[in-house]
Amino acid sequence: MAAATAIFQYIFLLILVYQFDQSYGQQSYLNNKQFDCNVNWSTAMGFKCNGAAKSCRSYLTFRATSTYNSPVTIAYLLDTDATEIARINNVSDVGRIPSGTLIIVPVNCSCSGEFYQHNASYVLKGTVETYYAVANETYQGLTTCQSLQAQNSYNFRNLKVNMKLNIPVRCACPTKNQTASGFKYLLAYLITWGDSFEAIASMFNADVQSIYAANELSPNHLIHPFNPLLIPYKSEPTYINTSLLSFHLPPSPPQLPVVPAPPTSNNSSRKWVFIGVGIGVGVLLLLLVGFLVWFLRYRHRKGTSLAETKDHGDNNFASESVDVYRALPESESKSWSEGVKFAIESLTMYKYEELQHATGSFAEANRIRGSVYRGNFKGDYAAVKMIKGEALEEINVLKQISHSNIIRLSGFCLHDGNTYLVYEYAEKGGLSDLLHSQNKESYSSSCTLNWKQRVQIAYDVADAVNYLHNYANPPYIHKNLKSSNILLDGNMRAKVSNFSLARPLNADNQNEGSLNVQMTRHVIGTHGYMPPEYIENGLVTPKLDVFAIGVVILELLSGREAIRHQGEVGKLGEEELLYATINKVLDGENVREKLQDFMDPQFRNEYPLDLAHSVAQLARNCVAYDLNTRPPMAEVFVTLSKILSSSLDWDPSDELERSRSLDHAR
Ligand SMILES: *[C@@H]1O[C@H](CO)[C@@H](O)[C@H](O)[C@H]1NC(C)=O
Ligand SMILES: *[C@@H]1O[C@H](CO)[C@@H](O)[C@H](O)[C@H]1NC(C)=O
Ligand SMILES: *[C@@H]1O[C@H](CO)[C@@H](O)[C@H](O)[C@H]1NC(C)=O
Ligand SMILES: *[C@@H]1O[C@H](CO)[C@@H](O)[C@H](O)[C@H]1NC(C)=O
Ligand SMILES: *[C@@H]1O[C@H](CO)[C@@H](O)[C@H](O)[C@H]1NC(C)=O
Ligand SMILES: *[C@@H]1O[C@H](CO)[C@@H](O)[C@H](O)[C@H]1NC(C)=O
Ligand SMILES: *[C@@H]1O[C@H](CO)[C@@H](O)[C@H](O)[C@H]1NC(C)=O
Repeated sequence: MAAATAIFQYIFLLILVYQFDQSYGQQSYLNNKQFDCNVNWSTAMGFKCNGAAKSCRSYLTFRATSTYNSPVTIAYLLDTDATEIARINNVSDVGRIPSGTLIIVPVNCSCSGEFYQHNASYVLKGTVETYYAVANETYQGLTTCQSLQAQNSYNFRNLKVNMKLNIPVRCACPTKNQTASGFKYLLAYLITWGDSFEAIASMFNADVQSIYAANELSPNHLIHPFNPLLIPYKSEPTYINTSLLSFHLPPSPPQLPVVPAPPTSNNSSRKWVFIGVGIGVGVLLLLLVGFLVWFLRYRHRKGTSLAETKDHGDNNFASESVDVYRALPESESKSWSEGVKFAIESLTMYKYEELQHATGSFAEANRIRGSVYRGNFKGDYAAVKMIKGEALEEINVLKQISHSNIIRLSGFCLHDGNTYLVYEYAEKGGLSDLLHSQNKESYSSSCTLNWKQRVQIAYDVADAVNYLHNYANPPYIHKNLKSSNILLDGNMRAKVSNFSLARPLNADNQNEGSLNVQMTRHVIGTHGYMPPEYIENGLVTPKLDVFAIGVVILELLSGREAIRHQGEVGKLGEEELLYATINKVLDGENVREKLQDFMDPQFRNEYPLDLAHSVAQLARNCVAYDLNTRPPMAEVFVTLSKILSSSLDWDPSDELERSRSLDHAR
């Protein structure tokens, strides 16, 4: 009986201790335990699931980097909502945030076994990424190598590029004790060099005692960078006073104390360095001006017709996912002005459910091509393109560009690690389909393009590319011009699409044809459109686009594809490059006859031969082997505008008369 009572009392005591722990225990500070990946410290696994609620809304902080530099990218990394980040931090959702800026990120936090966590995922990109590097560098200490190892089945030795990791992000919900004191939320702040309790408390407008209590720390305790510190909040945290923004402090040699530091030193009196008061005020002013400009432009802008994008299921798509990780070369000052520029216009952030609804859950019937679907958004058609991974490059490029011959991006959505871009819809589809339709039974000959339409298309494309090279700010090289990336709207006007490979021109030297040279080691593009200097040396200049436009013009003239496979398909060495054929046509004897043979039979001889000869000459110059003899884009555009105005004056019946009279003369 006594034994039973003892056991009963013991159990009662256990329950009491457990209850006590559940209700009142707060979180213990990480204290650099995350450095010791081989030891499964309990505190390194996460904050204990000891709160009043099993799940809650929670907050964490993240410092913008050159890669994760906008609400969208940060939301993508931390698997949360970009609109929310933008709202809380009072910035535009795709606006670029200067590196080092402290951003508040809301997450849904919930108990997963013993610990609280927010689930994110991450695809390894580099060969040198270890659990430790992902935890400390990419996630800045918001997760630990121990918890990564515990929740991913890959052995740390076998980590490879493209592996998808579960990322348990540290977060916590208030304990009963904290709730009783009126605290509703906990924010995990990432300590940086030079921080002190007082500075952190004043930055977050928090009571320093509540911070000590929340982290089971005392004033004498040392705190370390990359160790999240919990800040209790009574209401939703709002954006951090810009005058207190943490710009990157020059990292002092990283302190690596593996053993918890003795609580004797009194480093807590170090003062926060106040910087950026001027910058903060300046930005607010700029944002205000930006808003005014946006407002005026918004009122001015007229509705544009819809265009779509299409993507071949060819190598181009695979290359996209490689290329999107490349960060734009940027200087800090440039990113400031860009941030303001982005704030001027904001794209629609679609919810995934909206896209599902519009595309009938990405039904096969709505598939345009590859991963591009047609969506019906309340009666308006749009093209929805799915891209694996991030596509911030394309979003950022298209956001800065506004031209009637360049496809308009209207919005986007990030879901489950994929990016969905929503474009204007071009009802006539890709130029390549219309031009090379004889290869496809599905097209009737009724939708062939006539001479005027083709010259108009060449002119439109030249207009768009001339704008990109000479008027866009910053100027861009498209790098992937080809007939399948040129879309046609209902009026057969061209829209250039697919900016996944576009890259800005060097800022210091924007004169076309001069030494504006960039080199790249990975040559990506479409065979048949890439100039020799790019294939051989990776040389990227505006003349790369001039070459490609030359090939497109040759396609328009001849109706042939950029590469023609002769004989058996798939056999190497049997292919004919369209750009290599034009010299034979224009050189030597019988140019008229050779040109007539070269021209698309679908013209049925209804074209002005003289103008065709001029266009062919222009195209030949564009595809010249030596890039210095290729004309600059501005010149191509001027030449085409002259040819277009002559073409519009031209009457097909004249030509018929003339050819008849020529036939009679023979
Ligand atoms: C709970 O809160 C009270 C004050 O509200 C405090 O005195 C007490 O120490 C707290 N308990 C724990 C375990 O932190
Ligand atoms: C947010 O930014 C806008 C300018 O974009 C500014 O007018 C507004 O005052 C800011 N809100 C807060 C709470 O600072
Ligand atoms: C948290 O979850 C709710 C509902 O489950 C959702 O509406 C909200 O967007 C989520 N918040 C974040 C930041 O993911
Ligand atoms: C987070 O992931 C863990 C496993 O990695 C899982 O047990 C847990 O249910 C997940 N939590 C949520 C909210 O999805
Ligand atoms: C953790 O990451 C930061 C930022 O990249 C770096 O400065 C620091 O040296 C890293 N810490 C360790 C111990 O590698
Ligand atoms: C740590 O925990 C993981 C999973 O929970 C386990 O696989 C591993 O062996 C543990 N390591 C040590 C050193 O205990
Ligand atoms: C921001 O912080 C500075 C310096 O502490 C202070 O003077 C200013 O009033 C704060 N601004 C706001 C809006 O809280």
